[in-house]
Amino acid sequence: MGTTVIFKPTAVQKKALVLLKGGAKHILLFGGSRSGKTTVLVMAIIYRALNFAGSRHLICRYRAKDARSSVLRETLLPWLDNTIGKNGYTYLAHESMVTLFNGSEIWIGGLGDREQADKILGHEYNTIYFNEISQLSYAAVTTAYSRLAMRVSGCRNLFVYDCNPGSPLHWAYKIFVLKKTFLSGEPLEKPELYQSMMLNPEDNRDHLPEDYISDILDVLPEKQKARFRDGLWVKAEGVIYDKFDETMIVKAVDMPKEFDRYAAGQDFGLNITFVKIGWLGDCVYVLCDYGAFNMTTQSFNEELAARGWLDCAGGYGLSVYCDPAGGERIQEITGGTKANNSVESGIDFINAKIERRQFFVCDKCTGVLSEIWDYCRDEAGDIVKVNDHFMDALRYAVFSDVQQGVILV
Ligand SMILES: Nc1ncnc2c1ncn2[C@@H]1O[C@H](COP(=O)(O)OP(=O)(O)O)[C@@H](O)[C@H]1O
Ligand SMILES: [Mg+2]
Repeated sequence: MGTTVIFKPTAVQKKALVLLKGGAKHILLFGGSRSGKTTVLVMAIIYRALNFAGSRHLICRYRAKDARSSVLRETLLPWLDNTIGKNGYTYLAHESMVTLFNGSEIWIGGLGDREQADKILGHEYNTIYFNEISQLSYAAVTTAYSRLAMRVSGCRNLFVYDCNPGSPLHWAYKIFVLKKTFLSGEPLEKPELYQSMMLNPEDNRDHLPEDYISDILDVLPEKQKARFRDGLWVKAEGVIYDKFDETMIVKAVDMPKEFDRYAAGQDFGLNITFVKIGWLGDCVYVLCDYGAFNMTTQSFNEELAARGWLDCAGGYGLSVYCDPAGGERIQEITGGTKANNSVESGIDFINAKIERRQFFVCDKCTGVLSEIWDYCRDEAGDIVKVNDHFMDALRYAVFSDVQQGVILV
């Protein structure tokens, strides 16, 4: 087996490798595109798999298809060929898994569909690598946490992450950069366990086409340039709720105590989400939200009930407007009824509320806040259907109610 190791890390990749060997449990590499993030993390996994015979490692992102094309085919397999050679491993395509000569395994998959998620989360691992986490919900990532439970002597288990930066409201920014607990906003109990590092294309100039930075990145629109060239956490280009700003985030203690009326929205799927709102005059207040990953509708509903979120002041039942594609699941939700799913009209309505400053979000609504500045359209004007789970539930809550004719605005 020709072991010609020809991986030469760039200067920042070297620093990243040092960080990986330090004491942190969670390591995020963020930054511009093509800066060598995925390569160094895949190499770290190859090293770990080689060093610890019989160990198991997972590389996952939102869509399995993207994991297979960008991580497996473009990075993992070529670097395995370069290092241990084709005879040193077997790639089992139907399993999306690579076994090395020493019995170690590297699994590749998506957390975006149930069958895939069940399959990859049915094992225990020594490393879990969340690739491109700007597309992954906090609930999906934390659900996978319990799977980092494989024991191999001498191997310190690790979570590693990478992404192009998202908005400064994204969960990863809050945890890794602000060092706050995502749900409560309290400072992290053990901040030293969470480390992050920025890598930018400039750092990887040697491995990029000569004109990549000057002709592609330098000429991007400002916000995209900030994200994809400079690795900054800024609001994206084409953000749908662009006019939403931080002054519309209200501390829980400053929220009104009573509302004229309440409503909620419910989205189904592997990422199941709930958003409750209150109306006060013309103003919409987002009161609370909850999301889970791979949870049955019934358990989800029980969780909402346990939180007391399905009750309204005065003993009125809460209307929970559900994704109309939910079918029989709608009956499993207390107060569940079909939502209006006119996407564009719903978005226009919410945008009008935001523009008139009649839209407020309680700072406890981590799900809504984490998505609101990343919910965007692509260049063709189509809504990007990732990281939109709370956005759908929010729209059902706000707009169905209006459409029912109950609220006159
Ligand atoms: N140390 C290295 N040696 C050779 N090529 C590298 C190295 N690091 C990165 N590259 C190449 O640079 C390009 C971008 O790297 P990648 O890891 O995909 O970046 P990112 O994940 O930050 O977008 C890829 O073509 C990759 O093969
Ligand atoms: Mg990458």
